[in-house]
Amino acid sequence: MKIEILPVVQCEQLQPTVYALHLRSAYFSGNIKPGQFINVKVQGGVYPLLRRPFSVAYKNQDIVTIIFDVVGEGTRILSEKAPGDTVDVLGPLGQSFTIPYPGYTAILVAGGLGMAPMPILTQFLKEQGITNIETFLGARSENYLVDYNLVNVHYATDDNSKGFHGTVVSLLEKWLAENTDKSVYVYACGPNPMLRALQSTLKNRSLSGQVSLECIMACGVGICQGCPVESINDEKKYRLVCKDGPVFDIQSVMIQ
Ligand SMILES: Cc1cc2nc3c(=O)[nH]c(=O)nc-3n(C[C@H](O)[C@H](O)[C@H](O)COP(=O)(O)OP(=O)(O)OC[C@H]3O[C@@H](n4cnc5c(N)ncnc54)[C@H](O)[C@@H]3O)c2cc1C
Ligand code: FES
Repeated sequence: MKIEILPVVQCEQLQPTVYALHLRSAYFSGNIKPGQFINVKVQGGVYPLLRRPFSVAYKNQDIVTIIFDVVGEGTRILSEKAPGDTVDVLGPLGQSFTIPYPGYTAILVAGGLGMAPMPILTQFLKEQGITNIETFLGARSENYLVDYNLVNVHYATDDNSKGFHGTVVSLLEKWLAENTDKSVYVYACGPNPMLRALQSTLKNRSLSGQVSLECIMACGVGICQGCPVESINDEKKYRLVCKDGPVFDIQSVMIQ
């Protein structure tokens, strides 16, 4: 883990409020694993004080990309970055997605900006020989669907503006019912209600998977104890999202 000042290569608008920020760093490109995140100081000076956590979404040679929605001051500042600017980045942080065994169909399930870690996971799975990948992408409307470098995408929207009308978990259930012959393993990221629904769907079908959790973080490195998640069937009652996660076995955590 280290701190580096990274030059901005490009800030690309993907949707009305969603941006891809491309940063140059051989170190981060070489060391980041899928599901890990970086902690970004969005500008010099004291405001905003805290670093903001972002999953690394993609890497290409010495460029790493984060994809974010503008939800507050930090992400607004990031959305205005341009070539010639720099950002101060700490990382790589947290635990990554893993391949538990060979030879399955990987099911990637993302709600909204939960898609952020999926492109780099797709790259990793392909490199490791997991080439059967199905991606389930849901959002409240088409304007929040971001399919940057994803493969075999099945879309779902709450308002019926694109793809299946309903939640991404309902869409996945439909697909699972039609594909009972496949051996599947699931990777997920998104809002907690979606992840809770997915947790129960997988439990009912005796399917396994990993989930990347999000929560508000302060230090991002395991010091402040501000990001606990209750663990299930584990002698350690609480785990820290920033240090023990953000990636967990989906049946090992109580998703609030
Ligand atoms: C491990 C991790 C990885 C993340 N990866 C991404 C990513 O790849 N792309 C992306 O768009 N976002 C990601 N997030 C969320 C992102 O960190 C926040 O959206 C960002 O910090 C908001 O900063 P801000 O200054 O713009 O908003 P703030 O002014 O800090 O907050 C604006 C609003 O967003 C809410 N909020 C802030 N942080 C979070 C959070 N972590 N979870 C839920 N609500 C929050 C606040 O409660 C407030 O209502 C990630 C969070 C974590 C913990
Ligand atoms: S954010 Fe400080 S311990 Fe996790």
